[in-house]
Amino acid sequence: MVKDNTGNGEKMNIADGTAYAATQDVVGDNTNNGGDKSMVKDNTNNGGLVVTSEENIFRETEKKTILSVENLTVCFPGKRNIFGKAISVVPIVKNVSFEVKENETVGLVGESGCGKTTLGRAILQLIKPSSGKIVLEGTDLTTLNSGQLRVIRKDLQIVFQDPYGSLNPRITIGDAIMEPLNVHRIHSSKKQRKEQVVELLEKVSLQGDHFNRYPHQFSGGQRQRICIARALALQPDFLIFDESVSALDVSVQAQVLNLINDLKAEMNFSSIFISHDLSVVHYISDRVLVMNKGRIVEEGTADDIYFNPSNAYTQQLVQAIPGKGLF
Ligand SMILES: Nc1ncnc2c1ncn2[C@@H]1O[C@H](COP(=O)(O)OP(=O)(O)OP(=O)(O)O)[C@@H](O)[C@H]1O
Ligand SMILES: [Mg+2]
Repeated sequence: MVKDNTGNGEKMNIADGTAYAATQDVVGDNTNNGGDKSMVKDNTNNGGLVVTSEENIFRETEKKTILSVENLTVCFPGKRNIFGKAISVVPIVKNVSFEVKENETVGLVGESGCGKTTLGRAILQLIKPSSGKIVLEGTDLTTLNSGQLRVIRKDLQIVFQDPYGSLNPRITIGDAIMEPLNVHRIHSSKKQRKEQVVELLEKVSLQGDHFNRYPHQFSGGQRQRICIARALALQPDFLIFDESVSALDVSVQAQVLNLINDLKAEMNFSSIFISHDLSVVHYISDRVLVMNKGRIVEEGTADDIYFNPSNAYTQQLVQAIPGKGLF
């Protein structure tokens, strides 16, 4: 059995407890084939047929590039003088380049403090990079002023780790999801906006009548679904998930990962999925970037990185996975 990221083929059903058996099959497929790397995960819209890596690479290169990060360096202020003025800078993200294609999920993995969130925030222009380009669908975001950025942020959303901290406890979840629709003046009437929120709630497997509830009335997994619904409200072309399932227990993690995969197939967005957990990144991603001390040290298909890492640092990450094979 191969993993299907398209939402149209065979999918793992985590909720009913068969997930782990199914994932063991995935591992079996990739380990018991005599090292034949032509057995790869199916990321294509072919209903679950296995394709060779050559065909896959060809199809991937055919796809449109949505995001291109070129020689990106991000520095933070270092030592300060007695007046509090920074007298040095510390590079955190160092000369990073990669691309994300249409409808592709690129995993970004690395140990705590290596610069993953900093890279994500720099892509969103929440931190100004020191040098390099971030080209989203042909526009270099580093050249835009704040007004132009506000418009383009509609296409670029982020889902954070802590779903409770991301939601205002005094605002109903319906109003929280509706907020981006109000800000960007989507639809002419409030009634239409409300209808869209109900639709979004149902998309993330919640109910329309949850609209008037407050964040504390939901579980952690449900709150993360609410954050995903809010991020999807403006139908972005690009999403960054920053440790979006790290605070959830493992079965809820799997449900949210499957939800993200289903929504990706339905809404056709591209994404970067940031995590320190290589198993999670392997499960959700088409391609994986491995980051160490601010640099990308290895890049490859999710299966190659997980089953056949070539860089010593990636090998250490793989060896450190407890009970490898759960995802
Ligand atoms: N605003 C800031 N000012 C100065 N240094 C910062 C700032 N934000 C982050 N750093 C430093 O940059 C480094 C990378 O932090 P970052 O949050 O990007 O790591 P990370 O890979 O996301 O880690 P984690 O997996 O724990 O989330 C850390 O050493 C951190 O202390
Ligand atoms: Mg982080």
